Amino acid sequence: MRRPIALSLRTAAVAVFLCAAVLAFSQNGPPPSMKGKTAEQTKKNIQVLKGLPAQHVDLVMNYFASSLGVKCGFCHVIDTTGWYMDRDDKPEKKTARRMIQMVMDINAKTFGGRDAVTCYTCHRGATTPANIIPLPLAAHAPQESEQEDAALPTAEQILAKYETALGGADAIAKIKSRKMTGVTVDGQGKESPLEIVIAAPGKYASKTTMREGAVRAIGFDGTSGWMSSPRGLRDLPPDAVEEMKKEATFYPLARLRAQAATMHVTGKDTVNGSQAYCVAAPGTEESELYYFDAATGLLVRQSTRITTMIGTIPEQTDYLDYRTVDGVKVPFAMRSAGVDPRDAGMERFTTIEQNTPVDQSVFAKPAAKK
Ligand code: HEC
Ligand code: HEC
Repeated sequence: MRRPIALSLRTAAVAVFLCAAVLAFSQNGPPPSMKGKTAEQTKKNIQVLKGLPAQHVDLVMNYFASSLGVKCGFCHVIDTTGWYMDRDDKPEKKTARRMIQMVMDINAKTFGGRDAVTCYTCHRGATTPANIIPLPLAAHAPQESEQEDAALPTAEQILAKYETALGGADAIAKIKSRKMTGVTVDGQGKESPLEIVIAAPGKYASKTTMREGAVRAIGFDGTSGWMSSPRGLRDLPPDAVEEMKKEATFYPLARLRAQAATMHVTGKDTVNGSQAYCVAAPGTEESELYYFDAATGLLVRQSTRITTMIGTIPEQTDYLDYRTVDGVKVPFAMRSAGVDPRDAGMERFTTIEQNTPVDQSVFAKPAAKK
């Protein structure tokens, strides 16, 4: 099952997974364009999720499975002869349809159309939600005081502190290239060597060495991009190009500043054990939440909230292990997570060099080998 490309490219950490997804297309020819299509137009047996964008089907299914703590086969017929997602043999699938309808009804009738209730509200990773409160009662965490809201900094102030924490505008402006060497670690803990090169203005290249030396590479020269693997070479589709433009910068600072007027600070939250300010950048199909460490000012998490008809589905990247390189702070690890357990991953770097000579040929599309 592949995820929408636009989502898969969110971070460098996720970019390597994209490679597999897009290359999978090259085997069967180009994907039928799902843009603008609904689930019922592309699938055989959609009865309640009518109007769900086709590219969200996998995301929503993974969300169902993770909310209940099950795999696809809990609701679907999967056997040695194949996967039959359209079949209705299993009572669990029929129950799930009733549940989907119930969730939509509750939200429409009781919560003014907000997605206040989702599968996770009740299920919390179990097939049978609890209906009796467990005793003894859990000790309650002290409620955060109401006054704290009044003292929240503005988005502009948080971004200014972030810039200072990174090393300041002057030090950032001096960065012209960055080479990162390390490993990408998949959900099973398997490590593959990884190299990423970013160069001003807006160029990006990554190379992952898979098992038996197979290489997967992505290149972006500021305008167009490509990816290659033992299966072939192809151009990046337009939505992946847009995501590449974000990847090909040293920090998301300029992009965040451009949005600052529409962002708002929602409060404080705990991220990896530390207090962080949460800055929301609302959008119609997706909203972004950026978490900045309240003490250090550094960006520690980016969470994307994908709006679907059956609830808001999150995915996130954590920025960890910031160290100083040439006067600026750089995260030496990035950890990503989503509702598909296979999207869990980590990138860890052992060396990060800046402003060393860059071989420009890494960005250019290689000649196709026949
Ligand atoms: C909790 C039950 C449940 C789980 C778990 C689940 N699904 Fe589904 N799935 C459904 C229901 C219900 C439908 C039909 C929705 C409708 O009728 O609108 C469906 C429909 C589908 C379809 C469309 C089939 C067609 O052609 O009509 C696909 C594809 C699919 N699921 C894939 C998956 C995958 C992949 C997983 C595992 C990641 C998964 N599902 C996990 C309940 C589930
Ligand atoms: C309001 C609470 C609530 C929400 C929201 C909810 N469920 Fe349930 N669900 C339950 C309860 C309670 C049961 C157990 C029913 C029973 O005991 O008969 C259940 C059972 C199920 C089962 C059958 C499990 C089994 O062991 O056979 C499936 C499948 C299921 N839910 C899917 C979903 C999906 C998918 C969603 C989101 C679209 C969802 N549920 C949302 C309360 C909820």
